[in-house]
Amino acid sequence: MKNNKKNYYGSLSSLVYDQTKPPGTSIDGDIQFYTNELIQRDGIVLEAGVGNGRMAIPLLRKGIEVIGLDNSEQMLNIYKQNLIKYNMESELILSDLKEFKTDLKFETIIMPNGSFCLLDREIITLVLNNFKAHLTENGRIYLDLIFPISFKPGNIHEYDFACENGDIIKIKNKSISMDWINQKTYTELEYTRNSEFEIQPFTLWWYGVEEFKNILEELEFKNIKTIQNYNNAKNLNLKTLTFIFEK
Ligand SMILES: C[S@@+](CC[C@H](N)C(=O)[O-])C[C@H]1O[C@@H](n2cnc3c(N)ncnc32)[C@H](O)[C@@H]1O
Repeated sequence: MKNNKKNYYGSLSSLVYDQTKPPGTSIDGDIQFYTNELIQRDGIVLEAGVGNGRMAIPLLRKGIEVIGLDNSEQMLNIYKQNLIKYNMESELILSDLKEFKTDLKFETIIMPNGSFCLLDREIITLVLNNFKAHLTENGRIYLDLIFPISFKPGNIHEYDFACENGDIIKIKNKSISMDWINQKTYTELEYTRNSEFEIQPFTLWWYGVEEFKNILEELEFKNIKTIQNYNNAKNLNLKTLTFIFEK
């Protein structure tokens, strides 16, 4: 077993993420939403939890200066390959969000597609304060929160995933539990490719809208706004809530 760190993207999970969501794959219109927002802003953007560059690469292609940060070396290696593939250049930071340090100041920090929900609830204050320390005076943060609207404890989904190069990765996705008290879901993902085996224990936290606003207000963030489902009125179920706020 190569990896069993909580919420960590190892080699197989990173590879499957990239093969299922290559750069430019929009999730519910998120790439269009972030492009429209960021094109109107100056300065450098930090994408916190950049992954394979699904979002960052289309932003870079629009001329937006994005720096990607991730704590998974395997994900960043895939991002590097994608930058070469799409003929783009960008600085990368390998670090954990709660402790990254750089002399750069960002006009905008984005954390799209629910990556924030991967953070252990105990560290979110550290992460938000660290974001604040790396913002310019007019800096703004965009965070997507997702809600577990389709999570069904006990569900097991097993399938074979065929990679571009013909490799088959066997995937077992087990929705284990819904913890209503502590507001988190627990899933276990198993990936097998020949003799390679990886387990990804996966916890996603969710927050009430007022609860999250209060957390931001306690940290003295200002101008807090929310956007539902990237302003897509056709999507009737609330799945993604983007919090936009400033220091
Ligand atoms: C769901 S992926 C999203 C990737 C990309 N932002 C996107 O929208 O497609 C979440 C990413 O966040 C990274 N991540 C999770 N927790 C992190 C942490 N504490 N510090 C840095 N990166 C983290 C993971 O390694 C992963 O690449």
